[in-house]
Amino acid sequence: MMTTTDLLLLSCLTGAAGALYKQWIPDTNYENKTNWDKGDVPCGSDKVWFSAQRKVSVFVKTTHAVQEMRLPMDGEFILNSGAGFYVMAGQDPGCGQGVMTKFKDSDSLKWLDPALWQGAVTVDDLQRENFLFSVHEESVPCRYDDVVFKDLSSFKVDTSSSLSAIPVKSVSVLGKKFESGSEFSQYLNSRSGRLQFHGSSAVTVGSPGCGDPSGCECGNSVNHQLICARVKCTALSCKKPLLAVGHCCHVCGALVTIHFTAGFNLQTYRQRIHHLFLILPKYKSIQLAMSKVSRSQRLMGVIPFGSSPEIQVVLVDGQGGLQAEALARDILKDVRTHGSSFGITAAEFQASSGNSSDQSADSTGVVVGAVIGGLVLIAFIVTVFALVHKGIIQMPSVSWQVSLSKLKRNSDVGELGGPLDHGFDNPMFDNLNMLPDLPGLQGNGTTDSIAFTQAGGVYFVNPAYDENETDFNA
Ligand SMILES: *[C@@H]1O[C@H](CO)[C@@H](O)[C@H](O)[C@H]1NC(C)=O
Ligand SMILES: *[C@@H]1O[C@H](CO)[C@@H](O)[C@H](O)[C@H]1NC(C)=O
Repeated sequence: MMTTTDLLLLSCLTGAAGALYKQWIPDTNYENKTNWDKGDVPCGSDKVWFSAQRKVSVFVKTTHAVQEMRLPMDGEFILNSGAGFYVMAGQDPGCGQGVMTKFKDSDSLKWLDPALWQGAVTVDDLQRENFLFSVHEESVPCRYDDVVFKDLSSFKVDTSSSLSAIPVKSVSVLGKKFESGSEFSQYLNSRSGRLQFHGSSAVTVGSPGCGDPSGCECGNSVNHQLICARVKCTALSCKKPLLAVGHCCHVCGALVTIHFTAGFNLQTYRQRIHHLFLILPKYKSIQLAMSKVSRSQRLMGVIPFGSSPEIQVVLVDGQGGLQAEALARDILKDVRTHGSSFGITAAEFQASSGNSSDQSADSTGVVVGAVIGGLVLIAFIVTVFALVHKGIIQMPSVSWQVSLSKLKRNSDVGELGGPLDHGFDNPMFDNLNMLPDLPGLQGNGTTDSIAFTQAGGVYFVNPAYDENETDFNA
């Protein structure tokens, strides 16, 4: 039997479920060729130019010879131990003609650009380049993620977003991990902090990690537009491209939806799929993204009626989606035989070929039926309630006891429309002026509803109390 300690230990071993490490890819390092306008790190004969207005933090790993250097008005070099600059007398033999080399502008690199992040389950995986594929929204750090800026690296990131804060669990900068909110905001106000982070929103650390083993929703859907603004979608050739929750583009491949219950562990299940399938040669080209999402449920694709958390598995391959579809079938087969031992109750897939699983078609029919019935009932109750509230229908002031006895007495009379008239007389309908201006209630729009007349002869006949039924009761 498992004790609490065992469970704690287990959860430590499997890691905080769903939370990932997200690493910022670009850097502003002196030694990175891509940061120089000539595509190469300046050498001893070159003139190095940092434009005056640029505010930048530059990490320098080693020693460099230069001919001349123009520095910005505000900026910093972070020198690795042993790193530095010296001026070379004359030409650098291995450098050729000296040129003017300019440090490129990195001001426009945005936190919300999904292409600038790579994610992994552990720090080790980050180092081993064991990256995860994610939908666009989740490529950007989620609120329960650990954010990593590479060791021995400088950077500059624009943290503008649609909210005033970007909450994350922790941020690591130059090997130092910030987990406390006050400590990190202090860092943001330091010289380095101000050079590295700019933009309208503040990154805040100290968000709780994801405590739910079945995973947590990323929380980036509020920034969906900004996240997708930088994404270019490629033209697709498959028959029925699919749109995954949190992704900016349609894809060719397959979407598997997994319904889970207590005992489901996202991390364990991701590993299972990896070990069972993704390592197989035939699935080599497949990219798989797995996360908890909340799909808004729509009745007949139009009317929203709430949302429910489910596990979304996005399968994309480089071959028009056929491999992805085959993997989707394998995953469903696995769910059918072993799903219950992983806390999976059902799964279905859609493929961009137009194929889909019909596994849970029956229960879907039942659910849709039940939902339609429920909606009709709710609509009826709401309408009646609204009408009562607006004073269009008044509840009879007589007690039900009295009405029923009246009805009974009247039913003895026999014919409907005879003396029954006064049984359900609604005084309200005696005066048309009491009707508020509701479109559709007056004029021609009422042909299939109650007709209002000024004559005062309008009455309700409740079909529940019709003749036969009364006879039956009697
Ligand atoms: C240099 O910068 C580019 C783009 O910012 C990045 O993709 C690459 O990984 C960097 N190179 C190294 C060696 O870090
Ligand atoms: C749909 O699935 C069947 C197998 O069930 C397969 O033979 C067929 O090729 C698939 N259709 C497409 C368009 O891929």
